[in-house]
Amino acid sequence: MTAAPQAGAASARACSLAGRHVVLGVTGSIAAYKAAELLRMLTRNGAEAQPVMTQGATHFLGPLTLATLAGRETFVEMFARDDADIRHIALARWADIAVVAPATADFLGKYRSGIVDDVLLNLLLALPSQRVPVVVAPAMNDEMFAHPAVQENLETLARRGVFVVPPEHGELACKTIGPGRLADLARIVQHCERALCAASSAADFRGRRVVVTAGPTRQYLDPVRFLSNPSTGRMGAAVARAAWTRGADVSVVAGPMDRALLPADVATVFVESVQDMLEAVRAAMSADAMLVMTAAVGDFAPPRAPEKIKKTGQVRTLELLPTPDILTAVRAQHPRATLAGFAAETSDVCARAREKLVRKKLDVIVGNRVGVADSGFAGPTTDAVLIDRTGWEQDVGAVEKTALAHLILDRLRELAP
Ligand code: CTP
Repeated sequence: MTAAPQAGAASARACSLAGRHVVLGVTGSIAAYKAAELLRMLTRNGAEAQPVMTQGATHFLGPLTLATLAGRETFVEMFARDDADIRHIALARWADIAVVAPATADFLGKYRSGIVDDVLLNLLLALPSQRVPVVVAPAMNDEMFAHPAVQENLETLARRGVFVVPPEHGELACKTIGPGRLADLARIVQHCERALCAASSAADFRGRRVVVTAGPTRQYLDPVRFLSNPSTGRMGAAVARAAWTRGADVSVVAGPMDRALLPADVATVFVESVQDMLEAVRAAMSADAMLVMTAAVGDFAPPRAPEKIKKTGQVRTLELLPTPDILTAVRAQHPRATLAGFAAETSDVCARAREKLVRKKLDVIVGNRVGVADSGFAGPTTDAVLIDRTGWEQDVGAVEKTALAHLILDRLRELAP
């Protein structure tokens, strides 16, 4: 047994913004004001950000705002200072990733055509394209976005390997409603992580299908009452995000949980009952898919009364029937699939987890110590031991859910056919 506590998998580091040099390009759209918050999110994720603005962007946001937040001068002028640095080349060598948000129609046209009339475009063309990914997040009026010139520019850039974060549908500055709003900032950050992953050897789930369950289930007694548990879905969200970041084709089946926790670009089906979760998982699974069952599935369900149960004054006894076991059902249907389960236990974690691994014919089980500090349903960390079907075990101690998610995926990839 390997007992060394892990700070996190190598893949977690490769797909993370922590310690990365990020060029944040801002162009002249009204959404430029959102770049200030994006910069804060990048630095909160551990990145060092270098703001670069076009002249147009300075009409909407002061360079000093970004400079103050970044703790670095914002570059606007191509030939601003009398120093020996060739500014755009020095920056291109420094960068690990460049993200342009918001990206205007004008910028996209120039970038696609290789017209470099400002410091941002010069630096983007000077980037070593194999090593440094570029993410662009367009924002503009809906008619402008739909224009064939803009669409062709985006298609060409995407073909060349630029990561495009599509704008969202919503109210635009011009008071129309349509696609053109700058993508949600958390989504832009997720795309940056995915781009970093793709530029390293960590995008090892390309072409793989991963199904993740998350959150609790609800077993209804009547139309207004149910049995459930306090699962928040954070672990499932972490696994889904890690798998998507590593290039997988991910489907999430989620019980009632905060939707904002889930990665925005992952297809999600929301369910309530165990039976609905089972059906949704069956629909999402394929013969060689991977399934990570983080959901806290209810083991028992009362028969559901069609009408609200009335208070009669009498104490009622609740009749409970067992629910179907989703992992067991999936294993029976897909003998070649790679399955991971969780065993939340208050004692005898390893022995109980191992018993579930065997009983449910799993490939990996995550024994999860609950009822101890720093581990459990809602917190950022989980105290876990990983066990696989070959007898391999790793006590990872209390780790961040993201790091644990990557460790689980590492193991599944080892074991998948
Ligand atoms: N699970 C499942 N279907 C169920 C219940 C649980 O697929 N009806 C999955 C859980 O998502 C988890 C694993 O099985 O990944 C273990 O769940 P757990 O509740 O710990 O195991 P049980 O078999 O329900 O045993 P017990 O509650 O008695 O410990």
